Amino acid sequence: MEYLFKILRFDPRQDEHPYFQDYSYETEETKSVLEALMEIRNVQDCSLSFRYSCREAICGSCAMVLNGKFDLACRTELESLDSPLIVVEPLPNLEIQKDLVVDLDPFWEALVKIEPFLHSEGAIPEKGHRIEDEKIDKIFQYVNCILCGCCYSACPVVSKRENYLGPAALAKLYRFVKDPRDKRPFKNWSRVNTEGGAWGCHTIFKCNEVCPKEVRPADGIEALRRKLIVEKIKSLNPFKR
Ligand code: FES
Repeated sequence: MEYLFKILRFDPRQDEHPYFQDYSYETEETKSVLEALMEIRNVQDCSLSFRYSCREAICGSCAMVLNGKFDLACRTELESLDSPLIVVEPLPNLEIQKDLVVDLDPFWEALVKIEPFLHSEGAIPEKGHRIEDEKIDKIFQYVNCILCGCCYSACPVVSKRENYLGPAALAKLYRFVKDPRDKRPFKNWSRVNTEGGAWGCHTIFKCNEVCPKEVRPADGIEALRRKLIVEKIKSLNPFKR
């Protein structure tokens, strides 16, 4: 089967604008987009830049836009794209560092703000902090996030509002809010109770649509909003002890 790859190229050190470069690629085997990109780079053009690591849809590094669809290049088979023409673009709304490599710093900075780790209390038990199966089931959806950045990059609010935490960070926060081992007081999360946090989401659900792991980050944002309302009502209850 013969394919024509149209790959977005841009080196900010020497190019004025991004442009598409064509590469023809032939294979008789079932190959992923990532494998094809690696062969193109190894055989045709060693200047082509893209990220990858695990090649098993686990690390999230190879997220890109393939024929207009956000996906992981390592898990996308060429045949699944249903077209011999394959347009490859980097994640949008993030600065291009080179070709398909984008600057994910804003994504990581938002994530760090929610302190994405367990805030447990007391000494660590011998067998670690355990969680019951039925409780892990409730957060499993969010645990599945591989931090690929697809939701962040696709979110229309992220592209407009600089201080918005974005879907991945908010869904990750909800994962810890729901985790009974996490003891941080939710009322302290003033950053979330803002337009830059859970109230910034415009419920467009683009994040749910593009997530390659079906995390559905918008579900977590909605749940955070409900939690914020419940906490507010509780704080206003004059009969509360
Ligand atoms: Fe790790 Fe694709 S290379 S997710």
